[in-house]
Amino acid sequence: MDPLLDFTGKVAVITGAAQGFGQLLAEELAKRGAKLVISDINEAGVHKVADAIAATGAKVLAMKCDVSKNEQCKAMVDAAIEAFGCVDIGVNNAGIAHEFMPLHDIDETLMDSQFAINVKGVQFGMRHQIKQMLQQGEGIILNVSSMAGLGGAARGSAYSMAKHAVIGLTKTGAVEYGRNNIRINAICPFFTLTPMVTNFADEEKQSKMGRGAPMNRLGEPKEIVAMMLMMLSPANTYLTGQCIAVDGGVSAT
Ligand SMILES: NC(=O)c1ccc[n+]([C@@H]2O[C@H](COP(=O)([O-])OP(=O)(O)OC[C@H]3O[C@@H](n4cnc5c(N)ncnc54)[C@H](O)[C@@H]3O)[C@@H](O)[C@H]2O)c1
Repeated sequence: MDPLLDFTGKVAVITGAAQGFGQLLAEELAKRGAKLVISDINEAGVHKVADAIAATGAKVLAMKCDVSKNEQCKAMVDAAIEAFGCVDIGVNNAGIAHEFMPLHDIDETLMDSQFAINVKGVQFGMRHQIKQMLQQGEGIILNVSSMAGLGGAARGSAYSMAKHAVIGLTKTGAVEYGRNNIRINAICPFFTLTPMVTNFADEEKQSKMGRGAPMNRLGEPKEIVAMMLMMLSPANTYLTGQCIAVDGGVSAT
């Protein structure tokens, strides 16, 4: 295997892995030798993903974890330590979108749900991953932000607020733990054809959304996961504090 993408023996925890980016990343890491603890609020869904991965011979544990609950995030990290002895890779991927609406219509309940899952969920994951990585003397964390975390997102202000906060956590974590050899980065995808998008946008809407990108189309999940793998590569040892847009050129406009 190309050493750039050889994850043999690496232990990864991934949140939100019942579908979308989390599922595909789990499958790709398992193919490259990683041992996995995958979690989701959708317990049946994440077990189904794990069963398919286990059938390939890879080592994988699945569990329910609602990332808005600190104790459940701790339990996920504890499960990885118990089963595999360490946590080399933490991927804080679970997240929710919200219905498009003007900022002045967004109420406190919607703000709270975005904050609970998309912000606190990432910090809860990071805090337990980092505590373990400090003991190990190394580790890699990848947070999933969004293009909405790098700029304004019309009619998506609560989501944009939350994804900007993920970037604050990512950069601050990188600054605090750089000397501990814990690298922390974020990926910022443009609209991509996971269930998060396909569940609300039909083909006509997707093609309209795609026109917002210079490449004139939405992203494919495998295109985002390819960058996730590169950012997590054990050979990629000097990248930290970066929030990388994978966006068909949107950020160049
Ligand atoms: N698809 C896109 O266009 C896009 C673009 C930018 C960023 N993102 C981000 O990528 C990440 C993954 O999204 P996706 O596109 O794969 O979406 P998705 O909806 O297909 O998958 C998200 C997963 O997170 C899980 N989840 C939701 N709430 C949870 C909670 N409280 N605790 C644990 N798991 C929970 C869901 O059950 C689901 O399995 C999210 O953070 C999302 O905001 C997506």
